Amino acid sequence: MNDTPLALPTLTGERTRLREWRADDVSVVQEASGDPLITLVTTVPRTAGEAEALAFIERQHDRLDSGTGYAFAIADLDGHAVGHIGLFLAGGRRASVGYWIASSHRRRGYALDALLTVTAWATALENLDRVELHIEPGNEGSWLLAERAGYEREALLRAWKRIDGNPRDMYMYTRLTEHALASSDRN
Ligand SMILES: CC(C)(COP(=O)(O)OP(=O)(O)OC[C@H]1O[C@@H](n2cnc3c(N)ncnc32)[C@H](O)[C@@H]1OP(=O)(O)O)[C@@H](O)C(=O)NCCC(=O)NCCS
Repeated sequence: MNDTPLALPTLTGERTRLREWRADDVSVVQEASGDPLITLVTTVPRTAGEAEALAFIERQHDRLDSGTGYAFAIADLDGHAVGHIGLFLAGGRRASVGYWIASSHRRRGYALDALLTVTAWATALENLDRVELHIEPGNEGSWLLAERAGYEREALLRAWKRIDGNPRDMYMYTRLTEHALASSDRN
């Protein structure tokens, strides 16, 4: 956590551009609201109402203002939003990444490109040592994606997080930042 408002960069990958959420991205949030896994593990609303989707977009800007993290819309190279990726500051020089892609845009490499792009940016940040992904063992698509992006599975964290009121196990996937790697070389 951080008390200072954060500034969101625009990051460009090979297939995606990571940029701020805009009100005209509302339809992709409305599509995501029909996905039971996305609504279970994120703050995407469970109803497809426009007002609720716009409130989700507004909350993404609040994360910057409160210094809790960076929330990007994942857009294709034509500028259309296809999903979400966020870097959330966990304290202790750690940050975690979360992501989703709306179902009609999956298996086109958008999540992989977005994760590679955000990771390249985050691992160069001086104030971070670790970038983490917390992925349920049953979410094989997500942990295969993490491994394709160069993350290493460090552990199974038992009862790491409550989801829908129930303690759930998570795999901890990690990439160390350039700063942390350079320091460990010196030790
Ligand atoms: C997981 C998720 C983000 C993947 O998005 P995507 O854009 O379809 O992923 P990509 O097209 O970039 O996939 C890249 C690689 O990851 C792996 N992968 C992704 N989805 C997969 C799936 N459902 N099954 C198996 N492997 C998968 C594959 O290796 C894939 O490469 P390939 O298509 O050449 O085989 C998407 O399915 C999603 O939003 N799921 C619901 C929310 C969620 O699980 N978020 C993560 C919480 S930890």
